[in-house]
Amino acid sequence: MKNNPVVPYILILAFGIGLIFFMSLQGADNKKEIAAEHEGGETTETTDATDDGAALVQSCIGCHGGDLTGGMGPNLHGLEEAHIVDVLVNGIEGTPMQPNMKTEDEAKAIAEYISTLE
Ligand code: HEC
Repeated sequence: MKNNPVVPYILILAFGIGLIFFMSLQGADNKKEIAAEHEGGETTETTDATDDGAALVQSCIGCHGGDLTGGMGPNLHGLEEAHIVDVLVNGIEGTPMQPNMKTEDEAKAIAEYISTLE
């Protein structure tokens, strides 16, 4: 076996197979990640309608927190629907809540949605 000229090729072959195996494992991992991302993406896509409060509040979570219980902006749970509509249409002067942030229809959908939150 010593000096057998085929030995280096066998080593390279073994190394190659190992590498392919390793890469396919990594690929399987990535696939899971991509699948998870895809699922997450779909839940927001399927609710993307102008009259869907759950989709519309996506533009609020940056300031009011992921569950709208407050972040840089105040907690929105437990507010009167009419008040939420008023704020979204008329704004609060001197704050990031600008007038006409949403149309009245969108504001109503958002207010309805927020009123369903615990
Ligand atoms: C750029 C950040 C920002 C975004 C985006 C934002 N808000 Fe606000 N919001 C605030 C801040 C800050 C206040 C507090 C204003 C104040 O000082 O009265 C506020 C106040 C409010 C109030 C009044 C709360 C109260 O207790 O009277 C409501 C209702 C409200 N926001 C709803 C929303 C909704 C619904 C959205 C999404 C359509 C939204 N906001 C998006 C920053 C934001």
